[in-house]
Amino acid sequence: MLLLGGGERASRGLVQSFDRVADQYDATRGLPPAVSARVSAEMAAQLRAFAPIPRVLEVGIGTGRIAVPLERAGAKVFGIDVAPQMLAQLRAKSPDLPVVRAVADGLPFARESFDAALFVHILHLVPDAGAALRAAASCLRPRGVLLLGLTDYGESARRTVTRWIGELTRELAGIELPSPDWNTTTRAAFRAVAAELGSTVTATALASWDESRTGRQILDGLRGRLYSSFWRIPEAVMPELVRRLTPRVEEFCGGLDQPISSEATFVLEACPVGAPGNRAEAVRSARLEP
Ligand SMILES: C[S@@+](CC[C@H](N)C(=O)[O-])C[C@H]1O[C@@H](n2cnc3c(N)ncnc32)[C@H](O)[C@@H]1O
Repeated sequence: MLLLGGGERASRGLVQSFDRVADQYDATRGLPPAVSARVSAEMAAQLRAFAPIPRVLEVGIGTGRIAVPLERAGAKVFGIDVAPQMLAQLRAKSPDLPVVRAVADGLPFARESFDAALFVHILHLVPDAGAALRAAASCLRPRGVLLLGLTDYGESARRTVTRWIGELTRELAGIELPSPDWNTTTRAAFRAVAAELGSTVTATALASWDESRTGRQILDGLRGRLYSSFWRIPEAVMPELVRRLTPRVEEFCGGLDQPISSEATFVLEACPVGAPGNRAEAVRSARLEP
């Protein structure tokens, strides 16, 4: 594999590094061990349809929450991320997994470097999801595959609390937080690029689990800005936001230490990028011409 730059290239917009939450990321986003094993085994099985030992680029690999178990399930995983502290967490767990600091729309890899490119919980963060997907498609070999991993959540009390946080932020600071329904925009971007490539998307639910949190954990997460959707809340309004939210959460959940359950499902969407001679490959190759 040829590294074209080996470093971070200019991105056309704001880049949302997760360094600020790197040391808490696995503790707060980690999948339950049985779910992680299931997700990686199922993902590896799908990838083996493309190559016996599939070479997979994870764009926005982070701490390796998905990549490290996927590597252990038999894939050869490579990663890029913009955040050095996230990559340091990954290296501590898996020193031999090759990673490079780069931005999603400026990948430092040559054509045909990978069998698959994987995006999990990143497309809502990048300045241009379409550009990131096209950049990854251009590093794939013919008959490769773009993969999108998402966590879908059912309707739950947590959604109500998230809605309140958005409403209170609007009231106190006059700003809109990012929509909590980022899976919808992410899926739309993935389907749009699939259509450009003359391909279609198939989706498989790999595992479901109960992701319980207490009201206190949600409030602590807000105060500590654990989730990227809270990063825009101005410091000046945070104390008042938490003050107004706390009694509402307490009443709604029947106490701050009551677990609020929320059903989560990990879904893998796949978009094959084409074989020599078919339309998807013709479109992909044409995009690569200088
Ligand atoms: C929510 S985390 C997901 C990490 C990993 N994919 C997972 O599922 O655990 C998003 C990751 O994308 C990285 N990121 C955000 N914007 C990026 C960009 N424009 N280019 C590369 N990485 C980016 C962040 O630093 C972070 O590590």
